[in-house]
Amino acid sequence: MPAAGGFDKGTGKVYPGNLTPFVTVTCIVAAMGGLIFGYDIGISGGVTSMAPFLKKFFHSVYDKQQANKSTNQYCQYDSETLTLFTSSLYLAALLSSLVASTVTRKFGRKLSMLFGGVLFLAGGLINGFAKAVWMLILGRILLGFGIGFANQSVPLYLSEMAPYKFRGALNIGFQLSITVGILIANVLNYFFAKIKGGWGWRLSLGGAIVPALIITVGSLVLPDTPNSMIERGEHNEAKRKLKRVRGVDDVDEEFDDLVAASEASRLVEHPWRNLLKRKYRPHLTVAILIPFFQQLTGINVIMFYAPVLFNTIGFASDASLMSAVITGIVNVGATIVSIRYVDKVGRRFLFLEGGIQMLICQIAVAAFIGAKFGVDGNPGDLPKWYAIVVVLFICIYVAGFAWSWGPLGWLVPSEIFPLEIRSAAQSINVSVNMFFTFVVAQIFLTMLCHFKFGLFLFFAFFVIVMSIFIYFFMPETKGIPIEEMGQVWKTHWYWSRFVGPDDFVSAGNLEMGRGKGNATLPVKDV
Ligand code: BGC
Repeated sequence: MPAAGGFDKGTGKVYPGNLTPFVTVTCIVAAMGGLIFGYDIGISGGVTSMAPFLKKFFHSVYDKQQANKSTNQYCQYDSETLTLFTSSLYLAALLSSLVASTVTRKFGRKLSMLFGGVLFLAGGLINGFAKAVWMLILGRILLGFGIGFANQSVPLYLSEMAPYKFRGALNIGFQLSITVGILIANVLNYFFAKIKGGWGWRLSLGGAIVPALIITVGSLVLPDTPNSMIERGEHNEAKRKLKRVRGVDDVDEEFDDLVAASEASRLVEHPWRNLLKRKYRPHLTVAILIPFFQQLTGINVIMFYAPVLFNTIGFASDASLMSAVITGIVNVGATIVSIRYVDKVGRRFLFLEGGIQMLICQIAVAAFIGAKFGVDGNPGDLPKWYAIVVVLFICIYVAGFAWSWGPLGWLVPSEIFPLEIRSAAQSINVSVNMFFTFVVAQIFLTMLCHFKFGLFLFFAFFVIVMSIFIYFFMPETKGIPIEEMGQVWKTHWYWSRFVGPDDFVSAGNLEMGRGKGNATLPVKDV
């Protein structure tokens, strides 16, 4: 029986290329695009637990919080405008990632990154100076537009630039900057919350301009990817760049394959409609399910609302922010573990191990919170050790996410799409991700209020489903050149029924199997 979902034969292709300082630095700079996303994730949770911020913009939440502490702890933060504040950004990001698809495809990955930085900059400024709720929301919409552009283009950029053997590690640089962004934001919140006069939230929100400037300047100095240059007809320049990026002169085979992929892609007039073709069924499924599942791990309940959550389970406001810093550190550390191992143990192992780890922790957290808070949400006297055990399980859960679904949720989609659908499919990945981030952000506080500790079991259920999906349907993609990825579907026990032997044939394969010069054959049905 073929290994469930497994692909271990490789394609037999070996493109020469090294991990040159040039490609490393380029990828580090590009990966910084994740900072804006991370900064925002970390900032919003902390700001919404700062009393002066709530008092100024969300009075009813503030009043509820000040009221008798013995009322139902599960419901103290349940407010629609407050959740709208957090989640409006994700709807904006969803929309802009769709527009970004065209910009990324027609004008290159760099321009989308630049738009990402500039829009985020504008949003950060408006938020820092906000005087009314509408300014807050407008600022967040601009931040969201920025994130949509950046998340659409940065993972593609990294996967195209990286030599395939190091693609996992270099791509996860994006997730690493997301986690660093979250951590920096949590630390800043911790200190800004202490500022006398209660205007620290302005610094937290306005601080967004720093990561925005980094990606803006970064996008101006970065080279475009050879794939993208070829896609825009700049062949000579692309070949020169490919030599520089790979650090070798012998790039002909890879270059020819990139050109073949680009020719195939040129015949596609409607990348969106094209996605519905039978041979793209595995790609479309992954583009939808991976981000859906990533969000249904429930990670953003911790990321957005860690301070709120810790506050709910009995930490003082200050201690809550501190615990968010601790989960932030775990998040960064575990992402580094992922960078180290993703190209060695592969994607499937990390997905499955991370899933089991998260599942165990979710059940434990539900049991601990349930035992103490019951269904009425009154913990009585909560011993310190109890809260510490809960935080410990939350940390192990975060580590599980941070070396599996976190980075892989961005890496795997960005490496499996053939060039002709890459931009469109990545937009679907981003928009599905943003949509479910929105849904979780929007309903979490209400769900906490109604499901109580059962909320953690709700997410645990999805972790079981997603692990089963990975086991049976997700082939291993480590160590396979990006334009050769078609092979993994052809040899897969399930997906091979959608992808025929003539689909996704690269220049090299044609040369071997069908005679040279027929590079357009693979898309004869376009
Ligand atoms: C996810 C975010 C999440 C973050 C946590 C990312 O991969 O897309 O939604 O907040 O990881 O580190």
